[in-house]
Amino acid sequence: MIEALKALALMNATREVVKISCKDFAEKINQSVQTASRRLKELEDNGLIERTITKDGQFVVITEKGRDLLHREYLDYKKIFEREETLKFHGMVFSGLGEGRYYVSLNGYREQFRKKLGIDPFPGTLNLRIPKEEIGIKKRLDAEQGIKIDGFTAENRTFGEVKAFKCKVNGLSAFIVMPKRTHHLSDVIEIIAEKKLRDELNLKDGDIVEVEVVL
Ligand code: CDP
Repeated sequence: MIEALKALALMNATREVVKISCKDFAEKINQSVQTASRRLKELEDNGLIERTITKDGQFVVITEKGRDLLHREYLDYKKIFEREETLKFHGMVFSGLGEGRYYVSLNGYREQFRKKLGIDPFPGTLNLRIPKEEIGIKKRLDAEQGIKIDGFTAENRTFGEVKAFKCKVNGLSAFIVMPKRTHHLSDVIEIIAEKKLRDELNLKDGDIVEVEVVL
């Protein structure tokens, strides 16, 4: 029934009285003429439209009740499509090879972390391994823009573009950092933060943390 109401609204019937023929309307809603005319009767019986049938055809306008129903539907879609999305996932803390310290300390990145993220990060990255069943999160983040951290050249090397996502790790403010382009989908996520998270959150290898990202 809501489909039929929506079709009428798209014909401007929330704003004015529109003239329709059952045949045209049937085509619009992809139904038989019989069904279309039954729908119109249902809408009328439910007080969602007002209808005048003359020998020249039907004149229809959507009532306030009908408009309210469509509006509620619209708000539902808004919720589905427009809500700020929070992604939650879990990660297991593990130790790497000390590379994080090197990268985060590079001025080319560090300056941008200060400017764009507003933090002077602890020199290092907290490595998290994502459980298999939550690996989809990695794909999601890969597809998102994030906050762009430009690549640069230093020490005769080029360092690639990186993107960052504001997040919370067990409730503490931090950022996910990942290469702009990943060539393979790894199950590792790296976190930077102003503070040393292992100390702040009392973490050791093997601990599971909860990460929340607001997109
Ligand atoms: O050796 P690894 O690659 O795991 O670490 P790193 O990137 O050199 O960072 C040094 C240490 O600080 C590691 O134990 C990290 O887990 C930890 N860390 C932290 O607790 N909080 C941060 N915000 C960054 C690093």
